[in-house]
Amino acid sequence: GRVIFSGIQPTGVPHLGNYLGALSNWVKLQKTAAPEDQLYFSIVGWHALTLPQDPDTLATSRRDLLATLLAIGLDPKRSILFHQDHNQVHTELAWILSCITPIGKLRRMTTWKTRLAASRNANDESEVDESLLNAGLFTYPVLQAADILAYRATHVPVGEDQTQHLELCRDLADIFNRTFASSTPLFNLPSQLNTTSRRILSLRDPTSKMSKSSPDVQSRILLTDTAAQIKTKIRSAVTDSIPGITYDPATRPGTSNLLTILAACTDEDVQDVARRYEGKGHGHLKADVAEAVEQMIKYPRAEFERIRLETAFLEEVAQSGAERAKERSETTMQQVRERLGLRR
Ligand code: TYM
Repeated sequence: GRVIFSGIQPTGVPHLGNYLGALSNWVKLQKTAAPEDQLYFSIVGWHALTLPQDPDTLATSRRDLLATLLAIGLDPKRSILFHQDHNQVHTELAWILSCITPIGKLRRMTTWKTRLAASRNANDESEVDESLLNAGLFTYPVLQAADILAYRATHVPVGEDQTQHLELCRDLADIFNRTFASSTPLFNLPSQLNTTSRRILSLRDPTSKMSKSSPDVQSRILLTDTAAQIKTKIRSAVTDSIPGITYDPATRPGTSNLLTILAACTDEDVQDVARRYEGKGHGHLKADVAEAVEQMIKYPRAEFERIRLETAFLEEVAQSGAERAKERSETTMQQVRERLGLRR
């Protein structure tokens, strides 16, 4: 059977990009998985610490994210839902992997290069203000690899922004297998699963992805947004002044992003949707996108408001998830320790 693993950071309510790019695939996988497939979905609190977090806000986000996973249809009896920080194995394996990770590979990570560029001195490009960068931002992909390898996962459903991190994960699995060789390789080389590769772009700047960290709240739709908020945000989405509607991501990123969202909401092919709007205007398209998003999220939104109040149930789900996560990952770690000469 397959072992499917994925994670999401608890940095506020998930947005449409998280949902269409990742979370909705988790639910689909749960529905289509074979009985012998195992599914692990983790809320990665340790990854969130790479940026400054207010402790009370983090505590709330962490619990709310679990409520969201349940609200969108993940079933804790079928899928193992757990907090990364409830299982120490992740940090133990991350340390071990960091000792076989070439620094050069980490330097090539796009996410790191973006952080580095953001902290360059405005007057002197060659000078980086290192006081703004913590070591966790740099080693973040190693922890991500540990998350995946601790479960000897075979498949990882993530959006395309995570492709490079997954390549590093495979590299590290391979380095480990070769360095600490035995009759059988310990780690699988996990493959990326994107049922439909959808990159959802910012509504305000369609050259960048929709993200939790953008300061402009109009740039993203949250899974908790009301119908009125959705309408306002879609109506003010940046498009272009070309008449008519066509799907052309290179020259019409804003318009194409709206088509991508609509096609994803109604589970259609984006070209089919584009053809339907050929002779129509942006106003028409926007009204339909807002309505489709509302229809898609209204049930999970109501479920979220209900489940988030059930604190005892949420704790129970987290606890049993952690126990099951520890079970499989401990088995991995016993073999890892054995191969390293760290037998307990
Ligand atoms: P995170 O929390 O940033 O995002 C969670 C998932 O949402 C996808 N995503 C998007 N997809 C399409 N369009 C967008 N605009 C968009 N924004 C986000 C991401 O691809 C991701 O699948 N490093 C990971 C979390 C992580 C992880 C792991 C994932 C930690 N350990 C192990 C898989 C396996 C991250 O920051 O995701």
